[in-house]
Amino acid sequence: LSTTELDLSAIEPGMAIKASFRKQPLFVRNLTPAEIAEADKVPVSSLRDPQTLEDRTKEGKTNWLITLGVCTHLGCVPLGAGEGENRGPFGGYFCPCHGSAYDTAGRIRQGPAPTNLQVPDYAFTSDTVVVVG
Ligand code: FES
Repeated sequence: LSTTELDLSAIEPGMAIKASFRKQPLFVRNLTPAEIAEADKVPVSSLRDPQTLEDRTKEGKTNWLITLGVCTHLGCVPLGAGEGENRGPFGGYFCPCHGSAYDTAGRIRQGPAPTNLQVPDYAFTSDTVVVVG
């Protein structure tokens, strides 16, 4: 299976980009300190798919949220990976198909999606380069 190498150096805090990985959309987001705090203050036990931001990111790199851009309901591409787009009521991503709202950790918070946005396997090969897959 193929891997995808991404250079993160141009992604400023608060920005999210849409890349592609194995023909699927991939969201790469540089969380701001406020967005990290927002994710961290949510009681994990209250979540439909209980995971912390730390569970979903790499140690020391919790600002880099890397997920598939595929809604876990029926597979639409959520909005929010681009400046000025609708990030929904929880500030992460918003799926316009049936209204699933994800938070700043890409966790499902409202709407029909059963699980969080999927985090693919990836590794940092330098401070600013990741290899996905
Ligand atoms: Fe996203 Fe249904 S496909 S809410």
